[in-house]
Amino acid sequence: MRIGTLELDGRVLLAPLAGYGDAPFRVLCRRHGAAMVYTEMVSSLGIKFSNSKTFEMLSLDPAEHPVDVQIFGARPEAMAAAADALVRAGADAIDINMGCPEPKIVKTGAGSALLKNLPLIDEITAAVTRASALPVTVKIRKGFLIDDDVTEEILAICEKNGVAALTIHGSTAVQGRSGSKDWDVIAAAKERATIPIIANGGVKKAEDARKFLDYTGADFVMVGRAALGNPWIFDQIRDVLQGKPLREPTIEERFAVMVEHVDREVALKGEAIGVKEMRKHLAFYFRGLPEATTYRGRINAVKEHRQLIQMLDEYHMLCISAGEEVRRDT
Ligand SMILES: Cc1cc2nc3c(=O)[nH]c(=O)nc-3n(C[C@H](O)[C@H](O)[C@H](O)COP(=O)(O)O)c2cc1C
Repeated sequence: MRIGTLELDGRVLLAPLAGYGDAPFRVLCRRHGAAMVYTEMVSSLGIKFSNSKTFEMLSLDPAEHPVDVQIFGARPEAMAAAADALVRAGADAIDINMGCPEPKIVKTGAGSALLKNLPLIDEITAAVTRASALPVTVKIRKGFLIDDDVTEEILAICEKNGVAALTIHGSTAVQGRSGSKDWDVIAAAKERATIPIIANGGVKKAEDARKFLDYTGADFVMVGRAALGNPWIFDQIRDVLQGKPLREPTIEERFAVMVEHVDREVALKGEAIGVKEMRKHLAFYFRGLPEATTYRGRINAVKEHRQLIQMLDEYHMLCISAGEEVRRDT
């Protein structure tokens, strides 16, 4: 399966996830079967003005490629300059955010605000594809207001300007992160498209991804929230697509990934920030485990790397003995 010049090994992609999708998480998702990972959205102006926080977000791990680096902005020349800089940062592809509904992004004319300004989409996609030899991808929602649907127009602009793939999230910006997902709009785009279509929105488990691909005919499926605390979902989707039985990770596998995630986060961001960042990830990893609420609370009080690993070891033991009790009782 190809996106522009990139040959991808599979059809399942990790969505951009601001606040979660950093390099440690992306490496784990790649290892567990994501064919390509997207970075959190990065400000084109931050890149242009060499903002240090922005550059921190651009630190890519050798183990995560191929990686599509997502940029946001509303100024074609800044977006083009960012695209140029991303080649040097080691990106494999560049994605343009046209779906973010956050007011602080929308009020700058970026993210989903672009869905209301098709001439600007034309200018930005033309400028970015001109500035970079890397494949350029675009991620949209179907429109801004509840009844809007501008996918057909945007697909035509993308094709005209040499965009390599279009991700469609079948909901509108005003729906935010909830609301129903329109699969028909993705299916209709796929029917017309000459570039790969990436279907996004609402995959909760492996079987959903298979149905989503079957219904829309999309080339790829992109998974966001369901990957939080659950990088195994990519392996599971691959297995389901190949007609293989679905395999749940064992307790040992779960805890080994949690510990590696903590270690990677601390190595990248330092002890204080790394440990703090892991609280939100661990809250997701703990879903479905015994006494999750107690351990979420305990983790939130931990400040040191060593303490956090000790607590995970203790929780691991508790989960193993809880599992043995369940087996004995059945
Ligand atoms: C916490 C969070 C952060 C997100 N950050 C971004 C982002 O930086 N760029 C983007 O295009 N979409 C972002 N999204 C939207 C997701 O990429 C995706 O389109 C959306 O969650 C729907 O897919 P899902 O149902 O598989 O989660 C974010 C979503 C969440 C929940």
